[in-house]
Amino acid sequence: MKMSKRKFIKALSLSLTLSPIFILSACKFKDLGSNKNFNNNLLTNQNFGGTKMPFELPTLPYAKNALAPYISENTINYHYGKHHQAYITNLNNLIAGTELANKSLEEIIKISAQDKSKAGIFNNSAQVWNHTFYWHSMKPNGGGKPSGEVLQKIEQDFGSFENFVSEFKNAGATQFGSGWAWLVWLVLDSGKLKVVKTGNAETPLTTSAKPLMTMDVWEHAYYLDFQNARPNYIDTFLNHLVNWDFVAHNLKN
Ligand SMILES: [Fe+2]
Repeated sequence: MKMSKRKFIKALSLSLTLSPIFILSACKFKDLGSNKNFNNNLLTNQNFGGTKMPFELPTLPYAKNALAPYISENTINYHYGKHHQAYITNLNNLIAGTELANKSLEEIIKISAQDKSKAGIFNNSAQVWNHTFYWHSMKPNGGGKPSGEVLQKIEQDFGSFENFVSEFKNAGATQFGSGWAWLVWLVLDSGKLKVVKTGNAETPLTTSAKPLMTMDVWEHAYYLDFQNARPNYIDTFLNHLVNWDFVAHNLKN
């Protein structure tokens, strides 16, 4: 796909500035109580309060029981309340009093990714970002086939929606050990969508690819609900959870 110069500059600019929006806008909101509907305000809120440490656990864009029966409140309590919180606590402790203490989350990820002595900081900062992105990649009553421009773009770049599903399932199932499956946009390269997988805390944020949505395939994401049956979790994610509105938003912004 050939991009005009104007579109290229816009895409470049947005790819460099968009990512923190989700982290920071999510940090802005407090408990959503029993509201089971996905809070789309989180996608458009432009308030950047709390961009630097101490980082805080971002508010979920839905209630903790809103993804049940597919992902239980019990899983959310551990995955979000314990694991995600632990990455945030670890990150704050690791960067306190260092030159990274006044950097944004995205800056910390990119700086630490290039310095092996900062592996612990990279792992925790990337996991903070990846998890916030993952929560937004799901919504109640999600999943199934997208529509509109998202479907059109998927069909154009994968040949068919079924081909995309097959590639995404394969990425999630073949990621050995812990990691992530992603739908990314090669915005600065071919302009095409692509499915990629990353190990442990690795994130496309350190590449030129723009993340559109992600699926956590660490065991802590699915073990309480699916035990060792990762393929069942992947099917459930695609059939009932994936938030195509989030993908559409990311494609447009
Ligand atoms: Fe996780």
